[in-house]
Amino acid sequence: MPDSPLAGRKIVLGITGGIAAYKSLSVLRLLGKAGAEVQPVLTPDAERFVPRLTVGALAAREVLVDLWPGDASGSWTKHVELGVWADLIVVAPATAQTLAKLAHGFCDNLLAAVCLSARCPVMVFPAMDHDMWTHPATQANLALLRARGVVVVEPESGPLASGLIGTGRLPEPEAVVAAITGVLVAKEHPASLAGKRVLVTAGPTREHFDPVRFLSNPSTGTMGFAVAAEAARRGADVTLVAGPVALPTPDGVRRIDIVSADDLYTAALREAEAADLVVMTAAVADYAPVERHAHKVKKEDGDQTLALRRTPDTLAELGRRKRSDQTLVGFAMETTDGEAHALGKLERKRLDFIVLNMLGEPGAGFGTTTNRVYVFGADGRRHDLPLADKAEVAARLLDVVAGAA
Ligand code: CTP
Repeated sequence: MPDSPLAGRKIVLGITGGIAAYKSLSVLRLLGKAGAEVQPVLTPDAERFVPRLTVGALAAREVLVDLWPGDASGSWTKHVELGVWADLIVVAPATAQTLAKLAHGFCDNLLAAVCLSARCPVMVFPAMDHDMWTHPATQANLALLRARGVVVVEPESGPLASGLIGTGRLPEPEAVVAAITGVLVAKEHPASLAGKRVLVTAGPTREHFDPVRFLSNPSTGTMGFAVAAEAARRGADVTLVAGPVALPTPDGVRRIDIVSADDLYTAALREAEAADLVVMTAAVADYAPVERHAHKVKKEDGDQTLALRRTPDTLAELGRRKRSDQTLVGFAMETTDGEAHALGKLERKRLDFIVLNMLGEPGAGFGTTTNRVYVFGADGRRHDLPLADKAEVAARLLDVVAGAA
């Protein structure tokens, strides 16, 4: 099968100690037939279910189980080598015990140590009894793994080895291989935006009340610039409407500098007419001084009151004017009730997606190099993107909004 997307891919297949391990033998065979190079790594308990001899014969490779070498060969760094070697690490089946180890960074067997050394995506296929699967401890461990970017393929429902009926079955080997293929293809072919016009707004706005004073916010524009850069890398024709920020223009991006919310409104509405995708990361001031003085206002004795007017809501107007073939993405930065506020904005502003930032979450917010966002789609789907640097978050976000996630 030379045309298989699996051909030449280096996969660590971790097998743990559950009855579904017998299906991993078929997974191993199918991956090998598709041309993948598969290195099996068993936990010690997996050997109770599948003999090393059988796995080794199917893989035509030495099966690795032990963290520590039996001789003085000094080959105890195997886990690091495999972590670097692999294009993908798959744990199928993944028992509740192994999920717990991975979630908390334990590495007392070779497979757990390989996962902790991974430089590639890690995919787990949990399989266990229904009650173990639904237990809050297991679900909390899965939430931790998902938040860290581990791909979790949920088990299926049906008769279980315990005799009970419920959720916990490893999917059939063909389905396991299909899911593995999907992850490898997505990794190598991120959603292309060739031929698409993308408009990104970024940074703060400044609402001056005299030439030297203004209302603004701490946005640095990093997230929006990362989205513009990634869209350009994916072949889009990108226009970036930027507030006052200290960032260089990403390669291949057309930049329009603006200062105020009014400027942003004019520029974004004009540029959005031809855009297929609009991503509004700009932190737009909601109020501007009613009066703008031409000269510096001199201080006087006593207090001052500043009258403010509402600025136009660019995103809401874009929502009203949205073409059916246009995708509109808004950002929401919240401190409380994030999901409810974000969903409210999604609906009110007629967006396709809203990206929620929770100010106060570690690694998220203004001026950080990393971000942690939750993406809600008008189709009801929710994507929790892992904490990552903003370039990576931009890539994952474009995967979601371009429909590749
Ligand atoms: N936005 C805009 N024009 C404005 C205000 C916001 O286009 N005058 C856009 C932002 O770029 C962002 C989204 O709308 O994509 C944020 O919406 P919203 O939450 O309404 O802005 P906030 O100022 O955070 O509003 P609120 O005070 O209601 O939380």
